Amino acid sequence: MINTQNFIITIACACACMTAVGSAATVNADQAEKRASELLKQMTLEEKIDYIGGLGISIRAIPRLGIPEIVMSDGPMGCRCYGKAAAFPAGIALAATWNRTMADEIGIALGRECRARGVHIILAPAVNIYRSPLCGRNFEYMGEDPYLASHMVVPLIDGVQSQEVLTTIKHFACNNQEWDRNGISSEVDERTLNEIYFTAFRAAVQKGKSRCLMISYNLVNGVHSSENDYLMNQTLKRDWGFGGIIMSDWWSTYNGVNAANAGLDLEMPNGDYMNQKNLLPAIKDGLVKESTIDEKVTRILRTIIKAGFLDRPQTLSNIPLDDPKSDDAALKGARESIVLLKNDHKVLPLNRRKIKSIAVLGPNAYPAVYCGGGSAYTTTFKSVSILEGIKSVAGKGVDVYTPLQDLGFVKCKMEVFNNKELSGEPVKVSDVEHINNIWTTVAPEGLASPANFSVRWTGKIHPDKAGKYRLNTRYDDGIRVWLDGKLILDDWTDHLVRSTDEAMELEARDYDVKVEYYQGGGEAIIAFQWKPYVTPEEEMRDLKKYDAVVYCAGFNNTTEGEGFDRPFELPKAQVEYISALSKVHPKVIVTLNTGGGVAWAGWLDRVPAVMQTWYSGQEIGRAAAEIIFGDVNPSGKLPATFEKRAEDNPSFPYYSIKTNKKTPYTEGIFGGYRGYDKNKVEPQFCFGYGLSYTTFEFSNLKIKKTGTGDARNIIVTCDVMNTGERAGMEVAQLYLGDVKCSVPRPVRELKGFDKVSLNPGETKPVSFTLTKEDLSFFDVKTHKWVAEPGRFKVWVGSSSRDIPLHGGFEW
Ligand code: BGC
Repeated sequence: MINTQNFIITIACACACMTAVGSAATVNADQAEKRASELLKQMTLEEKIDYIGGLGISIRAIPRLGIPEIVMSDGPMGCRCYGKAAAFPAGIALAATWNRTMADEIGIALGRECRARGVHIILAPAVNIYRSPLCGRNFEYMGEDPYLASHMVVPLIDGVQSQEVLTTIKHFACNNQEWDRNGISSEVDERTLNEIYFTAFRAAVQKGKSRCLMISYNLVNGVHSSENDYLMNQTLKRDWGFGGIIMSDWWSTYNGVNAANAGLDLEMPNGDYMNQKNLLPAIKDGLVKESTIDEKVTRILRTIIKAGFLDRPQTLSNIPLDDPKSDDAALKGARESIVLLKNDHKVLPLNRRKIKSIAVLGPNAYPAVYCGGGSAYTTTFKSVSILEGIKSVAGKGVDVYTPLQDLGFVKCKMEVFNNKELSGEPVKVSDVEHINNIWTTVAPEGLASPANFSVRWTGKIHPDKAGKYRLNTRYDDGIRVWLDGKLILDDWTDHLVRSTDEAMELEARDYDVKVEYYQGGGEAIIAFQWKPYVTPEEEMRDLKKYDAVVYCAGFNNTTEGEGFDRPFELPKAQVEYISALSKVHPKVIVTLNTGGGVAWAGWLDRVPAVMQTWYSGQEIGRAAAEIIFGDVNPSGKLPATFEKRAEDNPSFPYYSIKTNKKTPYTEGIFGGYRGYDKNKVEPQFCFGYGLSYTTFEFSNLKIKKTGTGDARNIIVTCDVMNTGERAGMEVAQLYLGDVKCSVPRPVRELKGFDKVSLNPGETKPVSFTLTKEDLSFFDVKTHKWVAEPGRFKVWVGSSSRDIPLHGGFEW
């Protein structure tokens, strides 16, 4: 029998959908409130409780009420959960552009990627403060400074939400390390929370109007974030007026009653705790009020109704899945994100008229290392490695050599099986030339999901001449390799990524190769490669003949990512190689794929040029090559201080304290550059630092006051001139210091920045407006922001330590 009510709703919805496709179907606040309360009235208590427990990576549908499933995807690098997608510069790389318009453009592109895939809510951006270089997820975040992070995240949110896709600002709060992230308590005082760790979240919620927020894994001051009344009820809902959805991080809810009462609206990925079993008796016993459940349901409904999700389909089929607009945005972002750290004797840019040959080396040269690991990892349709970028950008006259390439197969059949045992008929058979796959998020063709499958390759390799060759593998999970019928590698177990690198003598003839692989869960990686063997000495000797050498160093998605912290030191083999290389070649250019600072000892002073390429997204290699050859003038600036030694970092003595399950933030507000200034420690590369191929001069600082009372503004203006010979972009940075205050304050703090584009000889004015908010500190006695009267100092310049203009004003 047809349920007539259902039928009518379905028809009505379908009609609305058809007319509203592509239009701004957002609903005004009053209407949304009314519709939410009408729907709520029709829901049973059981239905309401079910609704506040997620469904994998969705909010469940209630078909009888015409409420559709609300689909989420992870970010922040890309819309990664539904097959291949574009990977944009990671959060820290985007912050390094110091370009608000760029953040907006990337946001729009990310929003379009979501619409193309029918995604309503993206689990991004992420703005946990970079406290220590070790945190595995720094690459996803926006650096050490709350002002910079706030000013970059708001336009990013605007961009995404302009496409009628909702953002989820995450992870609130103080998920500043991955070490023991589910068990550790971040112990932070109220002032530090408000001045440093909350700021970008507050901006995201109040200025950016991010409609969703994700709570962190860690505890804050002894209480799980998902049960933290101070974080959710008091700060977000009461003090900041957040009207959207607070969701848990995945499996980070531990007690349904506590979570419900503390303000959690949606338990993800399932209602393991906020469910009928726990909440129905609790409501009956008066431990949880029914109105508390109603409030959560109302928040979810109000948010999705307001976004128009009940009135139109989310998928826009006129946006291609592989969208050229995304590629453009990713390239523009990557170009501005790369920071030139060192450029002695102007080794860069390379002059195509003089450089006729270039060697590209290092583990990160190919394939592209464009993303860190974990839930941000996005499998792309295409990506450009630094090697590929250099090959395409260098031009015809430049010989590009690399020892890295895989000689591949003469012929090879690939069979994919939908089980881990290679049993039964393969679901897909195809011919391939190389084995080099990451199937973590995108399953091989023929399979629905990237877990519990196996693959067999059967083929021939053919050395052209007899001699010594290297055979490399990389795999997660199991692998078996046969050469001419002989089993030469057998590691058929579940494990994290492993690799092998063997030398062997081969004759000039065909060899049969069989590789078998299975994937259980988690990362799905498999590579089998072979190439001529050269000793490091031979390789070094050969490298002398190249006009320039690019060494691509750093971590990758298996050595820097979610769920673990990384070492401060680069892998030892890389440091040794760079150091040896520097002895045979004077022009070694190092590119660095990291989410933050590393140890520099033993290599930095031996090479003339270093470029910080972060995880700058799928176009990383093209952007890096354009900078290397001077087609693009670098303009990225560090969003975090890079220390000389690990122990110089202000958080060093307290970070990841392995006892008592606590990580005390004893450095307080003096983290990042605020700490280096206070402790009078010279960083290796200071916050805001980044070189250009041209030079800039700052002049003509003027400070004037406007308005009265609390509405007083301080207008700071100056001129920036390009005094060099190339067009370029400079970031004018304004720092502010409170000369005398009743509480300790940083020597100076970033309170304004503007990126200007200047032709040679051109001058442009820059203007900053300082408000009471910019002058204030968080007063723990009154729990309010206070700007104390007195003198303030102002500095303007090109980094936190190159600030040639200074002045001041009375407040
Ligand atoms: C991460 C979140 C992510 C979620 C869903 C968690 O492990 O911390 O950032 O959004 O997984 O994949």
